[in-house]
Amino acid sequence: MTRVRRSILFMPGDSLRKITKAATQLTADAIVMDLEDGVALDRKEEARQIVTEACLSLDFGHREKLIRINPTNTSWWMDDITQTLDAKPDGYVIPKVESGPDLKKICDFLSEAEHTRGVEPHSIHLIAIIETARGVLLLPEIAGATKRLSALAFGSEDLAGDIGAIRTPEGWEVFYARSAVVTAAAAYRLDAIDTIYPNFQDPEGLKKEALFARQMGYRGKMAIHPGQIKPINQVFFPSPEEIKYAQELLEIHEKHQAEGTGAFAYKGKMVDMPMIRSAQKIIEQVTSLQSRSIHHQD
Ligand code: COA
Ligand code: MG
Repeated sequence: MTRVRRSILFMPGDSLRKITKAATQLTADAIVMDLEDGVALDRKEEARQIVTEACLSLDFGHREKLIRINPTNTSWWMDDITQTLDAKPDGYVIPKVESGPDLKKICDFLSEAEHTRGVEPHSIHLIAIIETARGVLLLPEIAGATKRLSALAFGSEDLAGDIGAIRTPEGWEVFYARSAVVTAAAAYRLDAIDTIYPNFQDPEGLKKEALFARQMGYRGKMAIHPGQIKPINQVFFPSPEEIKYAQELLEIHEKHQAEGTGAFAYKGKMVDMPMIRSAQKIIEQVTSLQSRSIHHQD
């Protein structure tokens, strides 16, 4: 069954309070306990312990349990994995992935660690964050590097820093990369997860950005504050108007097929197979969400 990944909430791995709140009260689809940039340099060790303890003692319910490790160009990433593996996360989130071999290195290390710890082989999946210029350029080899990879996430803030872009509300300075990530994800049948929206007191701006991400093909968006979860969840659930329109198109399409017509006009627009496939995708997505008792207002 495909995973539901509308909202992916991050919190510092050394904050047991935030992890507990997220795991037990908040409605994010995935919880990412961070060991990377959300944790001060002198708290890495403590964060690993807190994350492990939290994973072992809390019931995350249906929420995906993820740990973000440090990038492979640091001295921390191996300890991040070995010291948290007993907590059996659903997956690891890998920041600043720059190449296929970069990801493969983590994969091999993880396989070895799974073996020595008696963890089921290949049971832990990976999500790669693409947030450097090099990562964007080498997207195809990253996306195809390993079967463990289940999603590509786009990180706009680090990318902007890497390429020397100045962030604007419209985001055109990172548009190429944002588009490249979602395209690579589709080509390799991976989920695409959009970047964070740092201004957590601006729900309208967040909704606008999330809606655009969905229109681009993203399946969900990263969140950094509880207040961002509901707006994101709602945007990534097709609206009642979209669902109605998709149902209408599919019904009329069937009639036209029975009459031997391919393309037809509906409400002043030409409709043919690409639009029908989009309508089918919307209905499939809604059916899949509803089968898990997830509705538009959740
Ligand atoms: N996950 C879980 N709970 C969170 C949270 C998060 N990301 N952000 C805030 N909360 C909780 C707070 O603990 C507080 O709950 P409490 O009153 O029960 O303690 C409540 O939500 C309201 O928080 P608020 O006071 O509005 O925010 P704050 O000032 O405590 O925290 C941030 C602001 C930005 C520091 C915080 O949202 C945060 O840590 N975000 C994630 C940062 C991160 O992980 N960065 C790296 C990845 S990009
Ligand atoms: Mg980052």
